[in-house]
Amino acid sequence: MEPNRRQFLTGACALLGAGLGAALLADSADAATGIKRKKNGQVEVTVAQIPGLQNINGVVNLGTVKGVPTAVVRTGASTYTALNLRCPHAGVTVRDTGTQWLCPAHGSQFALDGAFISGPAGRALTPVSARLSRGILTVG
Ligand code: FES
Repeated sequence: MEPNRRQFLTGACALLGAGLGAALLADSADAATGIKRKKNGQVEVTVAQIPGLQNINGVVNLGTVKGVPTAVVRTGASTYTALNLRCPHAGVTVRDTGTQWLCPAHGSQFALDGAFISGPAGRALTPVSARLSRGILTVG
């Protein structure tokens, strides 16, 4: 039996809702083990529990921290940097290509640690406050 229009729309809405839910979870730092959002807006990252931070140049996207799209990058054996992912050129959120950050708007490129590579941005990504203590990186 062919689904009628109502059944089709109900199914389509359920699929859309599931997709939106997955997208929200994926963007939520609260959804991941080892990432905890505090009431003051800071995010605590338990570094040992984050697979993406086990290697140098590993990246974990925290979603937004105090309204700023933020990622943490492992820059050394025990060093990390948190980056504001808004491109300094016009504020578009940059994307991780696996080897660098790329701005989808006009093509600015940045090293994984946020250093400026090529314009039009003209400067590095802005760091976000991050403090490491006892294996927990507090960001924001
Ligand atoms: S906003 Fe990123 S290069 Fe223009």
